[in-house]
Parts: sequence; structure tokens; C-alpha cells
Amino acid sequence: MFIDIKDARKHYGEGETLVNALDGVSLSLGEGKIYVILGPSGSGKSTLLNMIGGLDSLDSGEITISGRNISRSDKKKMTDYRREDVGFVFQFYNLIPDLTVQENIQVVADIAKQPMDIEEVMKALDIDKYKNRFPKELSGGQQQRVAIARALIKNPKILLCDELTGALDSKSSRNVLKFIEKVNEQFKTTIIIITHNEAIADMADTVIRIKDGQVASCTNNGNKRSAEELEL
Ligand SMILES: Nc1ncnc2c1ncn2[C@@H]1O[C@H](COP(=O)(O)OP(=O)(O)OP(=O)(O)O)[C@@H](O)[C@H]1O
Ligand SMILES: [Mg+2]
Repeated sequence: MFIDIKDARKHYGEGETLVNALDGVSLSLGEGKIYVILGPSGSGKSTLLNMIGGLDSLDSGEITISGRNISRSDKKKMTDYRREDVGFVFQFYNLIPDLTVQENIQVVADIAKQPMDIEEVMKALDIDKYKNRFPKELSGGQQQRVAIARALIKNPKILLCDELTGALDSKSSRNVLKFIEKVNEQFKTTIIIITHNEAIADMADTVIRIKDGQVASCTNNGNKRSAEELEL
């Protein structure tokens, strides 16, 4: 498998404040597929995504990407992995406040090996008309689209999205999901989307449900729908 997670464990705090954010997660994810992760608040979804993205380290267990063990890599290899292979759309956009929309995207393009065309990406996400504005001059949904552009511009093998459409209305959500779908088809990008919106699960190849730091279910979707058909 492309992404293999074996008995991943991560706790925070101790004693009375101990939380097993990941309590023995094992998953095998295929290349070029779309995964949707659902689960209650605090169940460990973001923790899992951060681990796959190489942003944090496990207490025990391992994660391999194409056979490469990212849970036991040195700092340099982790940086390369994050820089070259992973695009991250964070739950709270993480845009750089002092850079314009275009600059926020350009800084990522500058360090990428094979970036996409910045004009094309901005157009597809309908943010080209705001390209000279600063993040604070944009609505939540517009900022979200800039965050997606930042993640996609480097044409990553893996796109990780935390609450992809949480701040968007249904029309903007559909547009964003259509774009994500197009990226998946065109570049065979493996896409993992965390969401609270059950309707988005319909566009997944596989739906993963997380509860109390464990995988409650992992089900192939026999009735996959396009973003156009989702009942958002
Ligand atoms: N840095 C941290 N320090 C202490 N506890 C943490 C930390 N990060 C996460 N946790 C705890 O780990 C658990 C899992 O958190 P996580 O952010 O993965 O949940 P989530 O499923 O993404 O929730 P949400 O849907 O609200 O975003 C929660 O109980 C949370 O409070
Ligand atoms: Mg979260």
C-alpha cells in the first residue's frame, strides 16, 4: 500500500489529563484515492492527519509512505517529505498575514520541484481577483480557498485537508470539492479529507470513521458520487 499505518499511538498529558489521541490506529491507504475521515470532535482526526503529514511524531507504531518510514526518519528527510510530497490545508488556514494572496501561494511555489501554474490555480479556486489583497481583507471562505491553493501549488503526491469546507457555504464547498476532484483525476493525488459533513463522504473511495483515537470503521464506498451530485 501507498500509506501504511501500523498501531499508531499518541497521547497528550498525563494522570487525570491523559488523552490517548491515537489509540492503536492501523490503516492502509492506496495511491490516487480519495479518503474521507469522519468522527466526533476530539476523536483524534487532526492528530492522525498531522502524523501522516510528518508534522508530529508518534509515541509508538509506524507510518510508511511507499515503503519509506516517516515515523523514524531524521529531521532532514522529514523536511524533504513535508516540502516535496505533502500539501496541507489546515483547520485554521495558517496564511501569512503580511503577504498578499498571490505572495502566500508564491512562497510555496518557490520551494517546490514542479509547481503548478499559479495563475491557473488561482483562477480554478476563484481567488485571482483577490490576488493583491491581504488575508485579513478576505472572508473565511476566500481565505480557505487561498489555503487550498497554497497546498496544491506544489503539486503534492498527498493532499491532506483538515475541515476542508468547514467555513464555506454549499456553493463554495461544491466548487472547492470539484477542484479537489479534478486534481485527484488529473494528477492521481492521494487525498485525505477530514470533515464533519456526512454528505462529503459520498465522494470518497473509502470512508474512515474515527472514535476515541481508534478506527471505528473503514468502508469502501460502492456508490461513489461526483462533487456535482453531492447533497451539500
Ligand atoms: N497539543 C495537544 N496537547 C494536549 N492535548 C491535545 C493536543 N492536541 C490534541 N489534543 C487532544 O487530543 C484529542 C484529539 O484531538 P484532535 O485535534 O486530533 O481531535 P479532532 O478529532 O481533530 O477534533 P475536532 O473535530 O474538534 O477538530 C483531543 O482530546 C485533544 O484535546
Ligand atoms: Mg481537528
